[in-house]
Amino acid sequence: MSHLRNLFHKPSGQEHIPAAVPFVAPPFAAVPEHVTTSAKTASATSVLPEFPVEEAQLRPGNRLVYYADPRSPAADRFRLLRMRLKTYSTTGKLKKLLITSPLAHDGKSTMVLNLATALAERGKRTVLVVESDLHHSSLAEILNLKPWAGLTDCLADDATPPLSAIRRIEPLGWYLLPAGEPRKNPTELLQTPAFGHIMEQLSPHFDWILIDSPPVIPLTDSISLQQHADASLLVVRAGQTPREAVDQTIELLGKKNILGVVLNGMEARDHLYYQYYNSNMRQHED
Ligand SMILES: Nc1ncnc2c1ncn2[C@@H]1O[C@H](COP(=O)(O)OP(=O)(O)OP(=O)(O)O)[C@@H](O)[C@H]1O
Ligand SMILES: [Mg+2]
Repeated sequence: MSHLRNLFHKPSGQEHIPAAVPFVAPPFAAVPEHVTTSAKTASATSVLPEFPVEEAQLRPGNRLVYYADPRSPAADRFRLLRMRLKTYSTTGKLKKLLITSPLAHDGKSTMVLNLATALAERGKRTVLVVESDLHHSSLAEILNLKPWAGLTDCLADDATPPLSAIRRIEPLGWYLLPAGEPRKNPTELLQTPAFGHIMEQLSPHFDWILIDSPPVIPLTDSISLQQHADASLLVVRAGQTPREAVDQTIELLGKKNILGVVLNGMEARDHLYYQYYNSNMRQHED
């Protein structure tokens, strides 16, 4: 099985991100200044309402390694990522994370699904996924959920309050506001003040909010979405995302807004780690 692997890489103009990214000890990016100084992101303060439950259908094609293969190196990477994110959240200053990437198919949605599952820790934390890729919504399809009203409906129509469009996803233990009915003007919809109002209404109810988004280079949506997030995580597909695209994306988002880079697609190294891990586990079990 191939795995998702995470790596934090502190973005800087001088550093190179080669086509096949080597595994390097992950220095966590500097926390954006506003994350440590702003009080806008206090942890969940309101009682979570009861939400309807939807059952996801989990198959290998979902690439939900954190849930399906919790002893895998990939799952371990998510635990590491969670640990690092928690360090910031304990100060109550980091809650809303934009998950974005330079190009299509870098692995943003896969990252969101696994990270949400890791952060939720089987219901210990309240995690909301806001599907804000209104051009190519994929989460309902990946999880095989039947569609219901979502973000576009809340943005276009005051009659759909955002809390009314959220469902709890089982067995993953987190909450989803899906993209909703496709619209002709997704970029314009996201740029209206309504998105900010929706985030303000949702924020007090959750410990973490992950914003799945479209790729940065072909579309401007992530740049406007970034205003509503405390920080961004940049997903880069190892051996696939061109370095120039990564550099351009860092420039467009602004280095100060990027918490870290997460490498997706480091399966070969995971394989070596897996062998090591399994042989050690066997020794302990003997
Ligand atoms: N490490 C990986 N190895 C192999 N396939 C992967 C890996 N990560 C993701 N994929 C697959 O690549 C495709 C794109 O992944 P995903 O939908 O997560 O990317 P995305 O960045 O959200 O794409 P989009 O920009 O179109 O929304 C999916 O079919 C997914 O299963
Ligand atoms: Mg996606």
